[in-house]
Amino acid sequence: MFEVRGSVAVVTGASSGLGRRFALDMAARGATVVGLARRQDLLASLGEEIRRLSPRSSTVVCDVSDTGRFIAVLGDIDAEHGRIDVLVNNAGVGPPRGEVPPDLAVYRMVMETNYFATVAGTLAVLPGMLERHHGVIVNVSSDSGRAPGPHEAAYGASKAALSAFTESLSFDTEGRGVHLHVLYPGWVPTAMGTEALDAGMPMPPKMVRRTEEQVSQLVLARMGGAKVDIDAAPIAKLAPIGRALFPGAYRKGVRKATR
Ligand SMILES: NC(=O)c1ccc[n+]([C@@H]2O[C@H](COP(=O)([O-])OP(=O)(O)OC[C@H]3O[C@@H](n4cnc5c(N)ncnc54)[C@H](OP(=O)(O)O)[C@@H]3O)[C@@H](O)[C@H]2O)c1
Repeated sequence: MFEVRGSVAVVTGASSGLGRRFALDMAARGATVVGLARRQDLLASLGEEIRRLSPRSSTVVCDVSDTGRFIAVLGDIDAEHGRIDVLVNNAGVGPPRGEVPPDLAVYRMVMETNYFATVAGTLAVLPGMLERHHGVIVNVSSDSGRAPGPHEAAYGASKAALSAFTESLSFDTEGRGVHLHVLYPGWVPTAMGTEALDAGMPMPPKMVRRTEEQVSQLVLARMGGAKVDIDAAPIAKLAPIGRALFPGAYRKGVRKATR
């Protein structure tokens, strides 16, 4: 498995939720972590915590949907630390659940953050990783990408694109020392997870509920391994099989579970 100690790791969306947990846990394992997000106040408190665990760690205010700026920040990190060994493309947005967003701009905004920023980050760090035959990229997807339900057309589409991009690219990097992963976290009570509940999503069943700690520890255990998908709630990966075999019953089940 991948040796986190001594590595240089970049985590996007590090100001809260899963990204904050990934940053803290990697710093605790001895990685030099650089956490990126937009909210400066939250990054400042994360910065203090990760520096206590790993003194060369830091944070950078960066809106990853500004892909030019994101690529430049990755270049600066590479220049300062000599390399990037791990990139966790975790930053993500979900438009408010409810009516189908009528405005194309919403779909573009979600794609810019969830998909194009992930592509930009991945393509920026990949050449260096391939040259060194060493690296891990974890792209954070969602079960909404492989088994979409109602009220998440923009979000689900962006995560489906992210998953397909990562899986396809993983064939091209196979055997070259660079490991690409797609993370499916299940449902986690972060700001994004609880906002969905507040907007009317029913509480997901226990078997797909996970904590930030559980997801982060799983990522640490699996990164660098042969499996592309990291499934925090493995039961969820059966959904596409159910859809293929029993499409009518599957749709009924999704409607019932998401009403
Ligand atoms: N919670 C769940 O149940 C669940 C399930 C499946 C997948 N996920 C995925 O997990 C990832 C993390 O989400 P979370 O659940 O931890 O929710 P969260 O607490 O709301 O975290 C989202 C993070 O993304 C950052 N972010 C959003 N837009 C950004 C941008 N343009 N540039 C830089 N950072 C940006 C936010 O920071 P700033 O606002 O400070 O920029 C925040 O740190 C997301 O990709 C989400 O889709 C979550």
